[in-house]
Amino acid sequence: MSPSARSLTRRKVILDCDVGIDDAVALALLVQSEKIQLLAVTTNTGNVSIEKTTRNALDVLSLLNAQSIPVAKGVARPAFTILLENYSKIHGLNGIGEVELPASEQFVDHRHAIEVFAELLEEEPAKSISIAVVGPLTNFAMFMKTYPALVDKIDRLIVMGGTTSNGNITPVSEFNIWADPLSAKFVFDNVSCPTSMVGLDVTRLATVNEEELDRWSRNSEWGSAIAQMVRGYLDINSNGWPMHDALAVSILIDESILRFESAHINVCTDSDENYARTLCDFKQEGDTSGPLISVALGVDLAKFRSLLTKLM
Ligand code: BDR
Ligand code: CA
Repeated sequence: MSPSARSLTRRKVILDCDVGIDDAVALALLVQSEKIQLLAVTTNTGNVSIEKTTRNALDVLSLLNAQSIPVAKGVARPAFTILLENYSKIHGLNGIGEVELPASEQFVDHRHAIEVFAELLEEEPAKSISIAVVGPLTNFAMFMKTYPALVDKIDRLIVMGGTTSNGNITPVSEFNIWADPLSAKFVFDNVSCPTSMVGLDVTRLATVNEEELDRWSRNSEWGSAIAQMVRGYLDINSNGWPMHDALAVSILIDESILRFESAHINVCTDSDENYARTLCDFKQEGDTSGPLISVALGVDLAKFRSLLTKLM
């Protein structure tokens, strides 16, 4: 198949991220997969400040030899960044495990992230673009508020965030939701395109270990740099480092990696012990006025790992 014919059949994706070590792995999967055409990367305030997540997005794309993909900055949240920098150093101070990447020569796109969402959705036929948000939902909520009529044009929204069981910031809340619960609430209460929540229930199982990182290092220069980032990732459990964001985007390449069940999701925003909890009502016994969201509850780890092995 000629390259132009192949690009016609690729799934068009925008990645909204806060790079971030597992965000970098998600970027690598999307860039490497021949099933995906990554149209743009937009950045969020999250793991580190927007300046750092944007710098990291540019540098990781350049590392992957994909510097022509536009990178646009989203909402800066200076107050949240100050809070975070005193709180969590899970991805290292620079967001990528203190690995120093060669600086990309590419400039940040002049448009705001939400203008990039809007322009691409306006240009392309309805239902031809999927958006994956693997950081806080700030940009996406702002996009929904500003361009409500364009949300229906999205083929699929994937959100890495939330949990139906234990959290990773509080006993019940997950980082991306905790970082901006009001935006998450707005999205889960109002979104009008098919939406999936890929939370800690499945992502904390999707680990890579030292052996896998050795293989990435042997395979390529970029694999080696990303393996080094993962070794600096403080999010680690007895099986290795969870690739939260990579698992979330993997379903754009192979849908059968995750199993979903539908629920209404209530994001708790009161300042109590349930702050930022994603309460998933699978039996639809509570308020059913909002949209049904598909919540990932099962993962085929063998399939996910073989995808990583193929692409990293
Ligand atoms: C999420 O939080 C971030 O630290 C990771 O990049 C991932 O998006 C996991 O809770
Ligand atoms: Ca992330």
